[in-house]
Amino acid sequence: MKVTLITGASGGIGEAFARRLAAEKHNLVLVARTERKLHELCDELMLKHNITAHYVAIDLSVPAADLRLFEETEKHGMQIEWLINNAGYGSMGDFAAMDLERELDMINLNISVLVGLTHRYLQQMRERKSGAIINVASTAGFQPVPFMATYAATKAFVRSFSEAIAEENRPYNITVTALCPGPTDTNFFSVADAKPLQIKGMQSPEAVVEAALSGVKKGKASVISGWTNYVGSIFGTLTPNSLVTRVIGGVLRPKIESRK
Ligand SMILES: NC(=O)c1ccc[n+]([C@@H]2O[C@H](COP(=O)([O-])OP(=O)(O)OC[C@H]3O[C@@H](n4cnc5c(N)ncnc54)[C@H](OP(=O)(O)O)[C@@H]3O)[C@@H](O)[C@H]2O)c1
Repeated sequence: MKVTLITGASGGIGEAFARRLAAEKHNLVLVARTERKLHELCDELMLKHNITAHYVAIDLSVPAADLRLFEETEKHGMQIEWLINNAGYGSMGDFAAMDLERELDMINLNISVLVGLTHRYLQQMRERKSGAIINVASTAGFQPVPFMATYAATKAFVRSFSEAIAEENRPYNITVTALCPGPTDTNFFSVADAKPLQIKGMQSPEAVVEAALSGVKKGKASVISGWTNYVGSIFGTLTPNSLVTRVIGGVLRPKIESRK
């Protein structure tokens, strides 16, 4: 059975991927911690689109979670054709004052789990000479971001890693795409305690998914969703980090200090 596996599918961008790809007749494995949401979504999508949809309710931040998830799909004979590494979260604040455990868990989820799942499923894609991997990065990964230091660095990793392996896998008919959304209307900001960054006119998760799928069709190694995000990201890379960090730090510092 050919299947698309989506991590972080219980809400936000991951749920939007699930809804859109179900409509395109992908069979699905949906992964997140909130079992009730995954169960309801699977039932809804199977009924509506006549596909198969399974879920694995798992906390991906616990050690060896990527291996457990891989073994679960192997046990059920699932052939993962598309892998969407979307589960992730952010955090906002003065790094020295932040909860270290949560920062380390974030690095594990945003980076280690993504690398682990990519490596495991890539072996089989290479044998079949087909597959698609979408790794959700962020426009935050285009420059260092004071007061979101760890999160932005995890997303810089995801961009760099994904674009590098996209090239490695070109001869194998496998696309790897780093998806870089800008501010998107999801639960991200409340989970990250980053309400000051919520802006009017954020992209919808559906618009982000649309940009991603169009990029995958074109075999792009990197997709920035939305033209304002595109311009902002290019500006971020062309401007010296010393200036970018001073400007972002100057804007965010009063917001962080006013929360104390
Ligand atoms: N929203 C934005 O502005 C924005 C911008 C750029 C990039 N991104 C990236 O987009 C991705 C999706 O985020 P989103 O905006 O859709 O946020 P979201 O609505 O908070 O969704 C995050 C998803 O990840 C899952 N998740 C979180 N921790 C998990 C864990 N330990 N184990 C398993 N699943 C876990 C959540 O499900 P459960 O809580 O049920 O586990 C949820 O399904 C993230 O990688 C984020 O960094 C978001």
